[in-house]
Amino acid sequence: MLYIGIDLGTSSVKLLLMSGNGEICNIVSKDYPIFFPKTGWSEQKPEDWYEQVTAGIKELTADVDKSLIAGISFGGQMHGLVILDEKDQVIRPAILWNDGRTGKECEYLNNVIGREKLSEYTGNIAFTGFTAPKLLWLKENEPESFRRIAKIMLPKDYIAYRLSGVFCTDVSDASGMLLFDVKNRRWSKKMCDICDINESMLAKVYESYEVVGEMLPAIADELGIPRTCKIVAGAGDNAAAAVGTGTVGDGMCNISLGTSGTIFISSDDYKVDSNNALHSFDHADGHYHLMGCMLSAASCNKWWLEDIIGTKEYDREQADITVLGENKVFFLPYLMGERSPYNDPDARGVFLGMSMDTTRYDMTQAVLEGVGFALRDSLEVVRSLGINVERTKICGGGAKSPLWRKMIANILNLKVDIIESEQGPGMGAAMLAATACGEYASVEDAAKKIVKIVDTEVPDPELVDKYEERYRTFKKIYPATKDIFSLL
Ligand code: XUL
Repeated sequence: MLYIGIDLGTSSVKLLLMSGNGEICNIVSKDYPIFFPKTGWSEQKPEDWYEQVTAGIKELTADVDKSLIAGISFGGQMHGLVILDEKDQVIRPAILWNDGRTGKECEYLNNVIGREKLSEYTGNIAFTGFTAPKLLWLKENEPESFRRIAKIMLPKDYIAYRLSGVFCTDVSDASGMLLFDVKNRRWSKKMCDICDINESMLAKVYESYEVVGEMLPAIADELGIPRTCKIVAGAGDNAAAAVGTGTVGDGMCNISLGTSGTIFISSDDYKVDSNNALHSFDHADGHYHLMGCMLSAASCNKWWLEDIIGTKEYDREQADITVLGENKVFFLPYLMGERSPYNDPDARGVFLGMSMDTTRYDMTQAVLEGVGFALRDSLEVVRSLGINVERTKICGGGAKSPLWRKMIANILNLKVDIIESEQGPGMGAAMLAATACGEYASVEDAAKKIVKIVDTEVPDPELVDKYEERYRTFKKIYPATKDIFSLL
């Protein structure tokens, strides 16, 4: 049988077709626009997602026997607020995970309601990108839209709803709403009251590997896919990526270098760090995970190369970077503010340390290293919990660069396992669909049978020492610039 994994990302949707034994048969990517109506705001139109998903499914399956397509699942950009009215019309554009407009609402939640209560109810505190603060923002700033809300959805769940007619979500994605009791895997009545919403506006919650329904007949016929094709709940993109890289079970690590950058630790048990600097979420394998999330990772490199330098030749640009650990230039990668560990929506990018002999390659290198150092900030929180991480998988667009992988291995002092196919969320989503349809006994079983490590980037002790020293300098830059950001 065949399975479709849909990775509903921020710059594009990537669709992957996988056979029952885990072989990738085809991959298609379709772009859609992102809107930044004000500095620090970010929005997309759910209709754009749906159009590109359906166009993508047609392209993906054009040359295969469509009668073999048994299941579809998702890995979706997390936290986005999608709201529908009573007639199922989208009320306004979705407010995305990297939108920083809710600073005031987060202060209210964290300081007036209080971090302790939020952490008790949900396992997390408020970050600007999370869904609950967006509801409070809407209530205050667009009361008419707030009043019309009949259904509150996450991005991938909007697609599942359009394809199946089932109003559903999964535990991993629901975890990022700050409306969900992560420990007990159910909606938090207390958080619904705080946000002045009714639980009936929230979807039915499934485990990521559960079937929610079948394709609506009219849509199945239009796409040429069997009406019996199962729609499977899927996961937030990071949990789906973790499945796709085999980061399941206890104590495994995955780093994703996509638009955002995340460090993801799977765990059999529910854990919360005392400062809530890391997110404590449910995992798609039926257990839990901890995660540090930086808002701009590969997107810093894209911004620097495409928008500032004006090139799309990423490999060419990195080819002249041969000496590591000695760059004098530093970069703070906070182009959309920062989430873990600083929780500062006002933070912005900084280049520091240029001199007359600085080249553009030093600056390109600083961008790549800055993302590595910022990931290290989250890893330090993980280590402070006594979790011993020695190796990680890696996925996302940035993981294609051998140079960046080497930097990550040495800055974080981790062995970086490179897997055969780093199609993170799309692959994970297809694996969830296959598991739900009975090809595998469990998500762990699917990971064990499908994911293969083909190489490992091993840290070099001399380079680790050099980067250790540079990291100590990097750590001083944010505290020294922090007060300036709010003046910008
Ligand atoms: C995770 C997060 C991002 C998005 C990117 O908390 O906000 O990784 O999921 O799509």
